[in-house]
Amino acid sequence: MQRIKISEILRSEPVNTTVLVKGWVKAFRNNQFIALNDGSTANNLQVVVDFEQIDPATLERIKFGAAIGARGQLIESQGKGQKVEIKASEIIVYGDCNPEEFPLQPKRQTLEFLREKAHLRFRTNTFSAVFRVRHALAFAVHKFFNDRGFYYLHTPIITASDAEGAGEMFSVTTLPLDNPPRTESGEIDFSQDFFRRPTNLTVSGQLEAELGAMALGDVYTFGPTFRAENSNTTRHLAEFWMIEPEVAFNDLHDNMNLAEDMLRYVISYALEHCGDDLRILEERLLEEEKSKPQDQRSEMALTDKLRFVIDNDFVRLTYTEAIDILKNSNPNKKGKFQFPVEGWGTDLQSEHERYLVEKHFKKPVILTNYPADIKAFYMRQDEPKAGVPGQTVSAMDILFPGIGEIVGGSQREERLDKLQTRMREMHISEEELYWYLDTRRFGACPHAGFGLGFERLVLFVTGMTNIRDVIAFPRYPGSAEF
Ligand code: 4AD
Ligand code: MG
Repeated sequence: MQRIKISEILRSEPVNTTVLVKGWVKAFRNNQFIALNDGSTANNLQVVVDFEQIDPATLERIKFGAAIGARGQLIESQGKGQKVEIKASEIIVYGDCNPEEFPLQPKRQTLEFLREKAHLRFRTNTFSAVFRVRHALAFAVHKFFNDRGFYYLHTPIITASDAEGAGEMFSVTTLPLDNPPRTESGEIDFSQDFFRRPTNLTVSGQLEAELGAMALGDVYTFGPTFRAENSNTTRHLAEFWMIEPEVAFNDLHDNMNLAEDMLRYVISYALEHCGDDLRILEERLLEEEKSKPQDQRSEMALTDKLRFVIDNDFVRLTYTEAIDILKNSNPNKKGKFQFPVEGWGTDLQSEHERYLVEKHFKKPVILTNYPADIKAFYMRQDEPKAGVPGQTVSAMDILFPGIGEIVGGSQREERLDKLQTRMREMHISEEELYWYLDTRRFGACPHAGFGLGFERLVLFVTGMTNIRDVIAFPRYPGSAEF
């Protein structure tokens, strides 16, 4: 007999047929009522055990966490909260689960505890909801781009270049660490390494995506990226997934519009397709907020917050305008910022970003035209502008409430001479990036792109508060378990 998924049963309600379901026991009440979940939906199916047909030894084995199958008639439910239930005439136990030893308990356990048990936490309502929403968002990203004629480009994971020029890379080598071959001058001899040169895990697929865009027009990458930055925060991972569209002939404004459209689309998709999961996550967040002081609680429930983002245009302003707001802000005047905003040119800290988004505008914000000196070498240099004291670039960062930077991108410098000058100033090797410079030599065109940190998006949509809780097996300083 074919197993039917619980999501399908709850959708189609094939009442009065015999069905077979399989899943994990969420609860077993009065030696009679099993709440069964198979991961296909946030909702459990009630299985009512027919004692007369099931032997007591089997009943004994129906424990929280056990994997079982149940066969029986699907009938209209007498109980509240569910339309149908199974009257089980047969129970098959696939995997016992000893409650004395099983680390999970049928009660609320802290996220910190569950992080230590990441191999089992999928079994909780919260985490199964998070990972279903994560899936839906990934699917929506692909759908968004496919529907708009973008090509999904798989850029390499092992590379020899530092796309961001920030030097936060993990090396990839097969040389023996204890005794690597040396050159005459005593340096490690990478010519004997696997790739005959030093290589690392990619920090971004952007540079390669630009090459694709110079022929395919509109491309995007969606892959793992790696940063060896020692950031122990609720917003940083050492391994995260990034979505990077790159579009020929787009300028900064097109780029902002694309990012805004995409964020709206994927959030709407989640609202439309993940209702049950978002309800669980919204309740979880409400519960979590109760433990916070009143003034730190969010003003909106999770789904209201998501709808708010879809319904309102993002605020767009330049870095120069933002600095003015921050300089004159109350927290700055009263010395409340840990990093006081003194003037034009300083990099924005997350406390500044959060002030703009959460206190000043109370909306997602797109900041543009940052000083060249705090941004990457490939960003397009702006023309001088009245009231702007220094060189800026056509950069854009999208800041979200509770998250801070969710997107970083720019129009790219397509003018060969300007790009070369900038690379020299920033000590980036033209020789190593000859292939990147070639696109500026042969048929160069204006183009733009951005990177969306996928986990930051999942964090926002699920209302979770730590990025380590929205990726299955988080990698961060000191942790590569599982
Ligand atoms: O701002 P970033 O460093 O930009 C780039 O890598 C560009 N090459 C993107 C592009 O233009 N194609 O990173 C982009 C986004 C950030 O806005 C943030 O959402 C996310 O990636 N991100 C991280 N997410 C989790 N953990 C980290 N350590 C992250 N670093 C960046
Ligand atoms: Mg950035």
